[in-house]
Amino acid sequence: GSTLQAAAAESGRYFGTAIAGFRLSDSAYTTIANREFNMITAENEMKIDATEPNQNQFSYGAGDQIVNWARSNGKQVRGHTLAWHSQQPGWMQNMSGSALRSAMLNHVTQVATHYRGQIHSWDVVNEAFQDGSSGARRDSNLQRTGNDWIEAAFRAARAADPNAKLCYNDYNTDDWTHAKTQAVYNLVRDFKARGVPIDCVGFQSHFNSQSPVPGNYQTTLSSFAALGVDVQITELDIEGSGTAQADNYRRVVQACLAVSRCTGISVWGVRDTDSWRASGTPLLFDGNGNKKPAYTATLNALNAG
Ligand code: G3I
Repeated sequence: GSTLQAAAAESGRYFGTAIAGFRLSDSAYTTIANREFNMITAENEMKIDATEPNQNQFSYGAGDQIVNWARSNGKQVRGHTLAWHSQQPGWMQNMSGSALRSAMLNHVTQVATHYRGQIHSWDVVNEAFQDGSSGARRDSNLQRTGNDWIEAAFRAARAADPNAKLCYNDYNTDDWTHAKTQAVYNLVRDFKARGVPIDCVGFQSHFNSQSPVPGNYQTTLSSFAALGVDVQITELDIEGSGTAQADNYRRVVQACLAVSRCTGISVWGVRDTDSWRASGTPLLFDGNGNKKPAYTATLNALNAG
């Protein structure tokens, strides 16, 4: 294939990107996005603060704009994200206990119902575990509603959109030896054993010098896949430049291609200047839309697989 999406499709995988709604008026941006990617994640527009700014008043305009752009261009959509400790609207930040539990489940139900039938995979729950060596849940208002909040969210999502794949999504879960990775693994194993609906695990894969692509990345992907879930690389970006950055992208693609249940890769933005890492150069296109060595390495690795 001569584009990322075409090359990935040769092995039945997708290749996606995050899209920011306010950039859809930039034709240099949409030209690259339309040409290279076939799976779209809204970078911010389907988060809780965007979709339910006031309790029980839902706001789908910004999310719909991205979904409509994707679908009218023949692309699929990853939903991001239904339940998260971050980017909560003010009203939710101030809630707790059973009122918050009900509000969270209502949010999951309403948003998943609105987008029912249009979402390939939902990040149902995002970033629920602590960093570091504890392997514990992250403290949050949602966690304080009871340890079963994650499975409650997954059951509500399944009921609202039975055909969407339901994912748990997190970062710093790429190194198989990390406590956080093992904690997520144990959650997924427990869900599968008890019949809690879960179909996929998203590995955000934000890499930099502090958290490089681990040597055991493929082991992590294959170990989760062996639990009977798909794995997806959901928010890939890798700090650096030139050959070193290209080599890291190649390693990530090769790890995914080596795992049959690794069904797709999404990068977290189109050009370096679109990245959430304000001063970084972690993506596949430079600010002028030129293909970087990391692009060529990614494309070649996809074509070799
Ligand atoms: O839209 C407002 C704008 O009206 C306001 O003037 C401006 C002033 O700060 O803020 C704008 O909102 C910002 C938004 O991005 C849109 O640009 C928020 O402040 C800013 O916090 C927000 O950052 C996003 C971040 O998530 C928030 O947690 C990034 O764009 C987005 O790339 C990032 O994505 C996360 C994933 O959801 C989860 N995994 C990690 C990843 C990177 O942090």
